[in-house]
Amino acid sequence: MSKVIASTHPLVAHKLTILRDKRTDPTTFRQLIREIAALLTYEATADLFVQPKNVDTPLGSTEGLELKENIGLVPILRAGLGMVAGVWDLMPSAEVWHIGLYRDESTLKPVEYYNKLPIEPTVSVCLILDPMLATGGSAVATVDVLNRWGVNKIKFVGIIGAPEGIALMQERHPEVPIYLASVDEYLNEKGYIYPGLGDAGDRQFGTG
Ligand code: PRP
Ligand code: URA
Repeated sequence: MSKVIASTHPLVAHKLTILRDKRTDPTTFRQLIREIAALLTYEATADLFVQPKNVDTPLGSTEGLELKENIGLVPILRAGLGMVAGVWDLMPSAEVWHIGLYRDESTLKPVEYYNKLPIEPTVSVCLILDPMLATGGSAVATVDVLNRWGVNKIKFVGIIGAPEGIALMQERHPEVPIYLASVDEYLNEKGYIYPGLGDAGDRQFGTG
């Protein structure tokens, strides 16, 4: 069963509280998405493989470490876009592969509209970035796409998850760990996470 790691870090909790606030403006909202994404990714990347690398300091030579894996950041459009900058600050050499999905408003099922992955995989580990894990349909569909591409080491980095979405991921992709700032109470009748933060895409892009 997938591990669910809900951060208990005070900085994450503080930033999440401001993020949820309905009075928070889009500029601040985007900045917080970026910062929380970086903090969660710090936890999510603790088990990346490294290899020895010699380095010459001004005083002499020593053995350091370098990342061994090629990392792909996979933001789910649109709302995942705002998480990229914070994660990229930590791993500037990561590749970014966008997946476009939106939820059909009546069925809440994900509809794919953008995928430019090349035939052969170019990375060995993918971090899926999407602030909201609601029904879980978008996350499951994205893992399906990445598995078909040939990548099997995948982590989901979100911000808020609903129990329903976590359960679906655990059923369909138990191998994918889920990193979140919070597990909220439930999905409402419109498929929104309660208490959540509203529409993560609209609040970032000022389109609500
Ligand atoms: C939101 C969110 C996720 C999805 C989560 O995207 O960013 O991608 O819903 O819902 P699910 O777990 O039920 O699939 P949305 O469809 O609103 O598109 P947008 O980001 O383009 O606004
Ligand atoms: N997408 C959002 O942006 N918010 C939710 O609460 C659920 C899906």
